[in-house]
Amino acid sequence: MTEPKNLWGGRFTGETDAGFAEFNRSFAFDRRLFGAEVRASIAHCDGLLGAGVLSRDEAAAITGALKTILERGLADAEYFAEPAEDVHSFVEARLVELIGDTGRKLHTGRSRNDQVATDFRLWLRDELDAVVVALGLVQESLLSLAESHRDAVLPGYTHLQRAQPVLFAHWCLAYFEMLTRDRERLADGRKRLNVMPLGAAALAGTSYPIDREAVARELGFAALSRNSLDAVSDRDFCVEFAGACSLIMVHLSRLAEDIIIYSTTEFGFFELSDAVATGSSLMPQKKNPDSMELVRGKAGRVFGHTLSLLTMLKGLPLAYNKDMQEDKEAVFDTADTITSCLAVTATVLRNIRVNEDRTRDAAAKGFMNATELADYLVRKGVAFREAHETVGRIVLRALERGVELQDLPLNELREFSPVVDQDVFEALSLESTLATKSQRGGTSRGQVTEALAAARASMDARV
Ligand code: ARG
Repeated sequence: MTEPKNLWGGRFTGETDAGFAEFNRSFAFDRRLFGAEVRASIAHCDGLLGAGVLSRDEAAAITGALKTILERGLADAEYFAEPAEDVHSFVEARLVELIGDTGRKLHTGRSRNDQVATDFRLWLRDELDAVVVALGLVQESLLSLAESHRDAVLPGYTHLQRAQPVLFAHWCLAYFEMLTRDRERLADGRKRLNVMPLGAAALAGTSYPIDREAVARELGFAALSRNSLDAVSDRDFCVEFAGACSLIMVHLSRLAEDIIIYSTTEFGFFELSDAVATGSSLMPQKKNPDSMELVRGKAGRVFGHTLSLLTMLKGLPLAYNKDMQEDKEAVFDTADTITSCLAVTATVLRNIRVNEDRTRDAAAKGFMNATELADYLVRKGVAFREAHETVGRIVLRALERGVELQDLPLNELREFSPVVDQDVFEALSLESTLATKSQRGGTSRGQVTEALAAARASMDARV
């Protein structure tokens, strides 16, 4: 193994400091762009052929060698042991090794600045598509879980205090909605990602008559960058991806938190499958929700990557600056983190056990029907503010007696308000509490059945 030759040289008389050379290197991580680098290089070679810069034979030699390089790289991890500054110089060095001087012609009319921007977009486009698929699997798990527990009821909370009962499926669909927005955000960002910078060269544009449209078509880009300075400087697509992933992590983390709390003995609503829980080395009774805790915990690293990308960019003068090499690890780790968190979350949801008796029992207790009693009084002509006050006093009485509202006898309820009648007990039932939430977006059985059907139809429309 010899130290690689720098890509520059002519202007330099001194040697590069070994420590700095190491510091400057990105190959340890940007080798992940290897496939994209070869692909973009083949397209650039075709562009040079079309522009008359390369002869047919030269282009064929270069393309053939690039394909060999790709095969070797895919077959043997050892191939990457050769030291290199970055993935671009690595591929070029292998090319020259294979075909000599002809290989040195490939860099005509391009710069690592437009190369890296092109490679990164190509790589991230595939990655983003994979995130969308993984997101869909979590949505599918949420929807199947809801569909298989159509009758289940769950206490709804605000301030983590019992508030009003909801259908379990309504809770599942709440997370389904969040992930739908995430999916839309990714799809929207993809439009701006799928633009080709190649041809911007170092910063000013290329001086060769390369048909950029044809190159873009070959690489599957939907559009060309319109300004060369912007093309090599723009890393908005990294920030947008990390930002969209940050919101996904917020959603997964909140879901994780709900699942963790609901799986405690105190709640006892859910039980995680053995497949995604761990035990304690000391306490034999323990079943810990490590899977969901890690998802919650990993949210922070994705937020951190978003912030480091923003900070890295904010003070940069146009056009390319080496600061931008710092974009890679932030985006790579964002993609890896989001992919693994989505996969684990889907597994948790697919295997979770819902204790419907326990959730129903919890939903029927703790004065979750107090608002319903106030609404009942309103239906009988009492102003809501007054009804609220009256029910508050009834709750106090029930608390004194250690009973639920519906356990108070009719005559006692009438002491608080003469409009109360026998039909109050029906109004206070769990089912009628749910049934009254029948406006669009509410938790009545009818609304949730429709919402489930709409969610199912939207999933079916994706495939
Ligand atoms: N490794 C570099 C990066 O990731 C590639 C671009 C280098 N360009 C340059 N002018 N030094 O940003």
